[in-house]
Amino acid sequence: MEVVILPDQDKVAAAAADAVEALLRAAPDAVLGLATGSSPLPVYGELARRRAGQGLDFARVRGFGLDEYVGLPAGHPQSYAEVLRREFAVPLGIDPGRIRVPDGTAADLPAACRDFEQAIHDSGGVDLQLLGVGTDGHIGFNEPASSLMSRTRIKTLTEQTRRDNARFFAGLPEVPHHVVTQGLGTILEARHVVLLATGAQKAQAVHDLVEGPLAAICPASVLQLHPHATVLLDEAAASGL
Ligand code: GLP
Repeated sequence: MEVVILPDQDKVAAAAADAVEALLRAAPDAVLGLATGSSPLPVYGELARRRAGQGLDFARVRGFGLDEYVGLPAGHPQSYAEVLRREFAVPLGIDPGRIRVPDGTAADLPAACRDFEQAIHDSGGVDLQLLGVGTDGHIGFNEPASSLMSRTRIKTLTEQTRRDNARFFAGLPEVPHHVVTQGLGTILEARHVVLLATGAQKAQAVHDLVEGPLAAICPASVLQLHPHATVLLDEAAASGL
């Protein structure tokens, strides 16, 4: 695991954008794994600036979202499919149809999860997976005690994660209880994983994922097994190391 400590969030975003840019210059049809939450948004903003200023072309990129809330209607502003359309596909000039997100509206959710896994497989696999991390060490929506070999499936959110994410909704009661998420085994198959964490509220999770034991209680610690994992931190997030 490569751990890079940078002065601030802008530098973290720039370093993640550098990794994406280097990949796309070599492989314009690369497959990106896309995270939501607030951490990756400055990366998407930086990539949009590079598209405008440096002629970086995203038109042939394909993307897979990490996770989705169950039960939010299509087009709901906090559905992760909608977030990735709004924050990633549109600013980067990508046809939103090239971005696939686990389907949280399907009548048969297990079948939809299997179809999603098959689509990743059929794409040739994810070249670069962007990740944030929850304050409890979750990645995607793999909450503490998730199976380290898990695949895309339904999960129940912890109250801590629901409270953390309530800021995106009108209030806590609006935050769904259930989600569909790529599994830890799914995430581990990406060829390069780039995790970003900023702010002191992430310091404990960062400590546990970088220096703690490999343990399902900190799902992000599974990245210790990955042959090419990069962890980009600001100084506050690194303060527990
Ligand atoms: C959500 C997402 C995760 C994300 C986490 C951290 O729970 N499902 O993918 O990493 O939030 O979010 P933030 O970056 O806003 O702290």
